[in-house]
Amino acid sequence: MSANRYAPWVRRLHWAVAWFIVFALVLIEIKGWFPRGSATRTAVKWGHMQFGIAVLLLMLPRLLVRLRHAAPPITPPLPRWQDVLSKLVHLSLYLLAFAVPLLGVSMMFIAGKPWNLLGLPLPVMATPDPDLAHALEGIHETIGNVLMWLAIAHAAAAVFHHFVQRDDTLVRMLPEGRKRIR
Ligand code: HEM
Ligand code: HEM
Repeated sequence: MSANRYAPWVRRLHWAVAWFIVFALVLIEIKGWFPRGSATRTAVKWGHMQFGIAVLLLMLPRLLVRLRHAAPPITPPLPRWQDVLSKLVHLSLYLLAFAVPLLGVSMMFIAGKPWNLLGLPLPVMATPDPDLAHALEGIHETIGNVLMWLAIAHAAAAVFHHFVQRDDTLVRMLPEGRKRIR
């Protein structure tokens, strides 16, 4: 039964966004392995943008679905400090999962260079502003890294809840029928 789980679409969209963020981050982190100007480096950067745009497209439906379905209670209940801390982290993750890709697409739009989604050309500003695009890129990279570390801490906390604190925090986010993760 789905008694203590998040609503199915909350779970599906959580994991879709989570995987896309992981792929976007892995690609941008390995970009440096390939020589400047090489086809592989260009492809890796393109892949980063594709997953990033997908995150942005999924975040609005995700937020709407979440607003319609409350989070199920955790058994046994969390101490107050964990309850407050997890809410703050989740709020920050939501904000960053919007802001980081939004800055990414804004900087591409403002930079004025050709870019695309699955080969489909995306619009660019008629009067590009490379300085502004560069400034946005700096912010994108900084808060992109904040998102990465926060997501790592968040995933570590989920694993800690499951194996050490032994509550149902993680199982609530897993597919139906999953009682343990081994
Ligand atoms: C949730 C989605 C995204 C995350 C987590 C993310 C994260 C990052 C991070 C951490 C960096 C800096 C990597 C470093 O430290 O060197 C970066 C660079 C970059 N991102 Fe994103 N990003 C996302 C979405 C996007 C989108 C949607 C676009 C554009 C459509 C984009 C375009 C870029 C570009 C052009 C760079 C600079 C690459 C270079 O150094 O040449 N990103 N991103
Ligand atoms: C990859 C490993 C991840 C694991 C194991 C994981 C696990 C979980 C679990 C167990 C919850 C439920 C927590 C609770 O209700 O107290 C949750 C919620 C949440 N996760 Fe993740 N997560 C992961 C990645 C991510 C990433 C990359 C993001 C970035 C956006 C993210 C954003 C969120 C948010 C915003 C919530 C709150 C859900 C809500 O109440 O609406 N998670 N996650």
